[in-house]
Amino acid sequence: MPKEWKIILNNTNKNINLRPIAFFDSGVGGLTVFEKVKKLMPHENYLYFGDTKNMPYGEKTEEQLLTFADKIFKFFEKQNAKAVVMACNTTSAITYEKLKNRYGFKIYPIIQSVCKSLADFSGVKHIAVIATPATVKSHAYSAGIKIYSPETKVFELAAPEWVKIVEEHRIDDPKSVIEVKNIIEQVAEYDKIVLACTHYPYLSKVMEKFVPAEKLVDPSVYFARIIRDDLDKSGLLGSKHDYERFFVSSSPQNFKTASEMFYQLERLPELVEL
Ligand code: DGL
Repeated sequence: MPKEWKIILNNTNKNINLRPIAFFDSGVGGLTVFEKVKKLMPHENYLYFGDTKNMPYGEKTEEQLLTFADKIFKFFEKQNAKAVVMACNTTSAITYEKLKNRYGFKIYPIIQSVCKSLADFSGVKHIAVIATPATVKSHAYSAGIKIYSPETKVFELAAPEWVKIVEEHRIDDPKSVIEVKNIIEQVAEYDKIVLACTHYPYLSKVMEKFVPAEKLVDPSVYFARIIRDDLDKSGLLGSKHDYERFFVSSSPQNFKTASEMFYQLERLPELVEL
C-alpha cells in the first residue's frame, strides 16, 4: 500500500465509523467493486456515484478527468464520507497522484492498490492488461506491476468500445460479441488477462467463449479485500448497515437497467448535478 496515503480524518467525530464508504465510477462499472466490498463488509453505510453524463471516461483528457473527480470528491465531503473508493481504473491512473491529499477522507485507488497482488501470480511471466484508452496510455499497470515483479512482461491493450456496450445494454448483440472477440483474441496466448476497467467483468461470459475462464482476472477481488483489511487496521470499520444511496449525473433508468447483472437496485438512483 502506498506509504503516502494519509488519514486526514476528523477524529473528534465519535460517529466516524457510521459514516458512509463512497464509491465512484463513470457509470455501472464500479458496481463490480461495490458488490464485492458490500459482501465482505455488510455492516457499513454506502454511497455510489455514477458519472453517467460524462461517460466514457477513457476518452477524456487529464484536465477533464481532474475536474470530474474533484467535483465528485467535494460531493462526498458534503455527504460526510469516511473513505472514497476510486472504483474506476481511468481516474486512478490519471488523477489519483494529483488529488490524493486534498480531501478529508481516506482514498482507495484501484490500480495502485492491486498491482502487488497481480505481480504475485506465481510462475506467471506474461500478463495482458485490457483497459480504456486513457489507462493504456498512462502505462499505470505496467509501471505498477514492475515495482513488485520487474521480470514480468505486461502488454497493455485498449478496448475502446466495451464500456459503451455495457452502458447501452448491448452485451448479447452479435456485433458486440464480434467486438469482444476481436480484442480478446489478440491476448489469448497470455498467461493471465487482467480486466483493467471495472466495466469489463460484465463481458466475462462473452470473453469466455474465446478464452478459458481461468485466464481472466478481475482485480476487484483483490481490491475489496485490501479495502476491508485497511479499514480494519485503521479502526474505521462500521458496525451497522442503515442505508445505501445511489446517485447519477444523468439517465437514472438506464443506470438501473445496465447495473442488473451485478447489483439489483431497489429504486432508481438519485439524479444530481455537480
Ligand atoms: N470503469 C472505468 C474504468 O475502470 C471507466 C470506463 C470509462 O468510462 O471509460 O476505467
